[in-house]
Amino acid sequence: MSNIPFIDLKTQQKRLGTKINDAISKVLEHGAYIMGPEIAELETKLAEFCEAKHAMGCSSGTDALLMPLMAENVGRGDAVFVPAFTFVASAEAIVLAGATPVFVDVLPDTFNISPASLKTAIKEVESFGLKPRGIISVDLFGQPVDHEAILAIAKENNLFVISDAAQSFGSSWNGKKTGSICDYTATSFFPAKPLGCYGDGGAVFTQSEEKLAIMKSIRVHGEGSDRYENVRIGINGRLDSIQAAVLLQKLSIFDDELQARDRIAKRYNELLKDVAEVPVVTENTFSAWAQYTLKVNNRDEVVAKIKEQNVPVAVYYPIPLGQQKGYKNYPCVSGGIPVCEALSNEVMSLPMHPYIDENTQDRIVEAVKKAIG
Ligand SMILES: Cc1ncc(COP(=O)(O)O)c(C=O)c1O
Repeated sequence: MSNIPFIDLKTQQKRLGTKINDAISKVLEHGAYIMGPEIAELETKLAEFCEAKHAMGCSSGTDALLMPLMAENVGRGDAVFVPAFTFVASAEAIVLAGATPVFVDVLPDTFNISPASLKTAIKEVESFGLKPRGIISVDLFGQPVDHEAILAIAKENNLFVISDAAQSFGSSWNGKKTGSICDYTATSFFPAKPLGCYGDGGAVFTQSEEKLAIMKSIRVHGEGSDRYENVRIGINGRLDSIQAAVLLQKLSIFDDELQARDRIAKRYNELLKDVAEVPVVTENTFSAWAQYTLKVNNRDEVVAKIKEQNVPVAVYYPIPLGQQKGYKNYPCVSGGIPVCEALSNEVMSLPMHPYIDENTQDRIVEAVKKAIG
């Protein structure tokens, strides 16, 4: 029996035929390897795709979080609220910008930031000697957060919102595409993401021309009117032309791939709803399904039994960020993060990509059922 890939990039590559090679060849011909003409074309198409005013390509999803934080001038003594159940980069960017991440809990059904826990953390943060400045709301596994609740809390407390959409580009909420909703939206084009390139890459979306101009300067070492005038502290946050060329080709089939992910996720739900807690997608939300994640009892045992049947399975994330060695000295909301802790013992993700055929999906489902017993 053939091996089942967790993510299948080869089938996607075959589908695009020679288009990717041709696009890369064009970059080799014109030789503008960094910030070549593909960048502006990609930025226009990305902004159009998600109905954002502005898109800015950049070096990674991590830098896509860092640059808005730098544009907001966060620093020592500033608190930025972030869920503890996420990939480390969501909090890492806050520390790199010189501010303090304050960990809050998540909701047990969507795995996204809990508005109640966020409110508690905002109220008490000044007693930790910190000034509340912003929120990084993470669309975990592809599903947008409850933006209505989070944006209302932000407005009430005069906080900026950076949507960490590393896993959710292509999703939508209440008829709005991710990228068009918050002050800033950061995404990642890491190869395994719903829209991925063949290396590192990312993008920031914003509705503000002023913030865009600041972030464009930060992207190139804080440049002013030319690259040897440095008006602020910046980074090397540029995107390579070859990655943009690859993304332009993949973007042409992205909508179709998103529909396929949704169909596959719904079929998993149907087939697995009687044996495990299947993912919950809230009303008026379209997930990009970066991951298909179940909650099960005796998770580690179940994972081992699935792997024994040659089916790949992954655990995102086994340790909440507030308990990671590198992050345990940063503050956590009072009352702690019990939901993050419970989830880190219960979750497991199954293969998810747009090219899973029904036979393969049946094999995966059978392996899960057998493992759960
Ligand atoms: C939620 C989240 N935020 C940020 C990132 C960082 O993206 P990148 O790996 O492109 O730096 C990732 C990537 O895995 C992610 O999943």
